[in-house]
Amino acid sequence: MRILFLGDVVGRTGRTAVRDRLTPLRERLKADFVILNAENATSGIGLSGDHAKQLLESGADVLTLGDHAFDQKDMLTYIEREPRIIRPLNYAKNAPGIGARVFDAPGGRKILVAQVLGQVFMKRPFDDPFSAVDAVLKKHPLGGLAAATVVDIHCEATSEKMGMGHFCDGRASLVVGTHTHVPTADTQILSGGQRSSQTQGCAAITTPSLA
Ligand SMILES: [Fe+2]
Ligand SMILES: [Fe+2]
Repeated sequence: MRILFLGDVVGRTGRTAVRDRLTPLRERLKADFVILNAENATSGIGLSGDHAKQLLESGADVLTLGDHAFDQKDMLTYIEREPRIIRPLNYAKNAPGIGARVFDAPGGRKILVAQVLGQVFMKRPFDDPFSAVDAVLKKHPLGGLAAATVVDIHCEATSEKMGMGHFCDGRASLVVGTHTHVPTADTQILSGGQRSSQTQGCAAITTPSLA
């Protein structure tokens, strides 16, 4: 399965780029499934329902959020009506929406998408991301219901992103860092990936922290 992950989509510029370029990019890359991090897509702070709809209509299959998940207040209710939006697993116990879901992909395959917030250097405290991810991966072992598993680790510290990559090694297809708005320049195939097929390996993509 070919998965395209884009993030973070920021403001009108990001939305316009997605609207104009996602379809040709998707075709060029022959992507089966597209995930966007969209926590900053509305004026750089949060995601409104209208903008979520636009991004989904532009060709995204799933949108992930982050620490700004509910900065646009209508997302508190919109997320309950739109299953293609994922908020962090450990955002808050009674937060609306869900932090992980299995989606349909082409060819009858399934893909699990999960998002979690880190704790290091974040402006607010969040529950332990590792136990939150562990529970989801135990419930959905790779190669079971889901042919691929993507974990979005939304945090500041490169070390925490790498930690999550190693924690999920062999249990997720892709661990990708969001939140810091820097290019993906350090993709790695971790050792657990060598023991399984390409869709069952674990690539950790981490992004350095912004000052
Ligand atoms: Fe963020
Ligand atoms: Fe962000």
